[in-house]
Amino acid sequence: MRIDVLTIFPDLFTGFLATSIPANAIAEGALSCHVHDIRAHAANKHHKVDDRPFGGGPGMVMMCQPIFDAVQAAESQDSSPDVRAVRVLLTPQGERLTQPRVEWLAQQPRLLLLCGHYEGIDERVIEELNPLEISIGDYVLSGGELGAMVLIDAVARLQPGVLGHEESAAEDSFSVRTPEGAHLLDCPHYTRPREWNGRVVPDVLLSGDHAAVDRWRDEQRIERTRMRRPDLLQHDPLANPQPLPAANTHKPATHVARATRSNAPKIGDELHGQTAPEGA
Ligand code: ADE
Repeated sequence: MRIDVLTIFPDLFTGFLATSIPANAIAEGALSCHVHDIRAHAANKHHKVDDRPFGGGPGMVMMCQPIFDAVQAAESQDSSPDVRAVRVLLTPQGERLTQPRVEWLAQQPRLLLLCGHYEGIDERVIEELNPLEISIGDYVLSGGELGAMVLIDAVARLQPGVLGHEESAAEDSFSVRTPEGAHLLDCPHYTRPREWNGRVVPDVLLSGDHAAVDRWRDEQRIERTRMRRPDLLQHDPLANPQPLPAANTHKPATHVARATRSNAPKIGDELHGQTAPEGA
């Protein structure tokens, strides 16, 4: 999979991409990640990427031109007619990122992550690009970069061959499901010593009875989910898919059309048809 990141702080990604799972994914050839500086595409003399908001008010707004040109330049790199990037804008106003959405994104051949900053981005370039808008949680960060890193990490570890056998993604929190499809939290884990600070490892884990261990882990997953996140047992996004915004499949006439998110792909949908360009 290829990921292009558009940011005004490209240096933030250097250490991140050189460390741990993202670095492994890149070394394995399962992921290529290209970070682009939006400022390099600013057509004005001072490489300005933001300006004061029309209507007044505090803060600055990121301008359309540098962002649009940066997207065009990134997408034209190594492009093939059959592979179109799913454009993602990291924003607190987006759909909250969940594991089903991560799994969907991880199966796309190409992502383009757009990181906003300042008070926001000129709405017209968002309308023009029609990205999938993703939030990593109900809090406001100073920019989309941390969200982009969260998303890259989450999709990198799902690429084939990236995680070792012993750390299989299939048993993570949110990956194990009940037969009804509800996502469960992970069970507790223990390692040596058998006793530490007066606390002992549950006997079943030392029994050598693999079926009993599996049963215990399942019970623990369900119990933890009941205690800590009962909402997960009530609302399963896969069993009950919510409409999601189309990933740059078409140009909406206005922001109102975008807000209705009418012909949006659902997480379980076929993956590639929906990213085809209009008229393709
Ligand atoms: N940019 C600012 N806050 C954000 C959030 N919560 N998620 C994604 N991008 C953001």
